[in-house]
Amino acid sequence: MSPLANRPGRLKIGVVGAGRVGAVLAHALRGCGHEVAAVSGASAESRERIEVLLPGVPIVDPDDVPTGTDLVLLTVPDDVLAEVVAGFAKLGLFSPGQIVVHTAGRYGTDVLAPATEQGAIPIAIHPAMTFTGTSVDLGRLEGAPFAITAGPAVLPIGQALVVEMGGEPIVLPDGAHEVYHAALAHGANHLVTLVSQARRILERAGVEETGKLFAPLLGAALEGALASGDHALTGPVRRADVGTIAAHVEALARTNPEILPTYRELARATTSRAVELDFLSPAAAVQIVDVLEGAGGEAAAPGTRVATTISELHGLLTRRHRAVVMTMGALHEGHLELVREAKRRAEEVVVTIFVNPLQFGENEDLEAYPRTLDSDVEKLTALGVDVVFAPTAKEMYPHRRITLRAGAMGNVLEGASRPGHFDGMLTVVNKLLGITRPDLALFGQKDAQQLALIRAMVADLNIDVDIVAVPIVRDRDGLALSSRNAYLSAAERASALIIPRTIRAGAEAAAAGAGPEGTLAAARHEFSSHAGDVHLDYLALVNPETMTPHETGTEEPALLAIAARVGNTRLLDNAVIQWRPTPLPGSSPTLENE
Ligand code: PAJ
Repeated sequence: MSPLANRPGRLKIGVVGAGRVGAVLAHALRGCGHEVAAVSGASAESRERIEVLLPGVPIVDPDDVPTGTDLVLLTVPDDVLAEVVAGFAKLGLFSPGQIVVHTAGRYGTDVLAPATEQGAIPIAIHPAMTFTGTSVDLGRLEGAPFAITAGPAVLPIGQALVVEMGGEPIVLPDGAHEVYHAALAHGANHLVTLVSQARRILERAGVEETGKLFAPLLGAALEGALASGDHALTGPVRRADVGTIAAHVEALARTNPEILPTYRELARATTSRAVELDFLSPAAAVQIVDVLEGAGGEAAAPGTRVATTISELHGLLTRRHRAVVMTMGALHEGHLELVREAKRRAEEVVVTIFVNPLQFGENEDLEAYPRTLDSDVEKLTALGVDVVFAPTAKEMYPHRRITLRAGAMGNVLEGASRPGHFDGMLTVVNKLLGITRPDLALFGQKDAQQLALIRAMVADLNIDVDIVAVPIVRDRDGLALSSRNAYLSAAERASALIIPRTIRAGAEAAAAGAGPEGTLAAARHEFSSHAGDVHLDYLALVNPETMTPHETGTEEPALLAIAARVGNTRLLDNAVIQWRPTPLPGSSPTLENE
């Protein structure tokens, strides 16, 4: 039977992967009279989406979807698509004449080759639109452009399906998908990053309703860019207003150092386009680039020096009141808050950047741990850090002789899952204290057990240093900042939010008067009702100094701590809860670190 004979009739459709895109497209196809015969979706979110968008459609294993359908819609994540197609082909699940559609923007029809070999007809359809996976998306399909790639005989089928869903078909040649997808990500996803950065700058300056403030300006800029490209450019680069650009860079270096690199890079790109289009003279461009490279970098804080050996470091340290902030790099706002606090408290600030092999277990992420020294140094320079100490492992561990043991306190909670982790952590912290000789050292409350162990070490080994704890810095969505958040996919990140919510639920229960048992029960309840793919390692109420279980009946503050795994990423969170001795009517415990 010719594939075209299937059209314009009613198609029997199977959907593999009820992600945001799959569920919405299947809903739309169903709305145009096709039959959605089966759908697969394992996560709690997928099932919820199926219930809302595809009610009544049988949920089956992925392997059971293709058989007996006219069209298989593969809407699995891009990274697993090739594997899924190969797996289905191996099981002989595709049949001659069957249409196989995927929606991964990164790929053309090549990725469907194993299905094509079994006689199936490949089509790549990619809606150039963002999806939330809810009914909100249905309106977005109307007029949305869909990139289609298919052989000439089947192209009309793809186009007809897109038109049925309300979309605008745009033919994309095979082989152009990677750049097509890169262009979309650069234009749309990075625009979100850019706008969020701009809003954050204003929010930090105390401006409210930044969305409202930006809407007309951004709307006009976008409209201009879409209508006339670079010719829509306005602003200081186009006007060659070097003084204004210098003032921007100086202000961002002071207030938003982590945003400065993006500003700088985009201003550079804007400058070179402006020269190409004759908006700007090459001489003015040189001045702009000088300003961009100078301020906020070395020029803004000429004192920042990087030492990679201990003797180099000692040559750079002066005898002032000194603070150290120890990190493993991949610096984020959490680390930078430690640095700002150090700047407030000490005359001289040293930041150490060292991914300490001793504190990683055999199967942990030592190799994969993000290493971003250049941009780390740039951020620290902008904050006016005096010295960055970034040694090699050889410099730190020329001999492996003496190491510290954390003992019982290091075997519980984190230590139970990561044997030896705290021994390695204490060993390096002790060494770095010896190397940097600080008056004070700052650590994040985020790693509460690490902090308690460092305090215990300093007390037990009579080390003359003040340990200062800095509250947890969170992202806007509540997730505690961590260098490991970089490992999370968008879906994993959404799932991970159950971790701060669990802590919040416990903390709120305590604030509402629950005792230790009620607090823990509320946190457990929150976690178990929404956990999805997040695997709990521990959720515990402990003494914040000793890490032993909180003793019911005592009035001592307690640490509510959680560790959970999202995909391959372990994440932590906690809050310190103060109990009131005798609850009076209307009184409640107070919370720290919330
Ligand atoms: P790292 O994970 O890089 O963290 C460095 C410091 O930043 C730690 O004190 C940590 O508690 C703090 N920190 C991380 N995220 C934070 C957040 N969201 N809010 C507040 N503080 C945060 O912890 C280590 O490195 C290492 O174990 C180290 C101490 C450097 C020893 O190798």
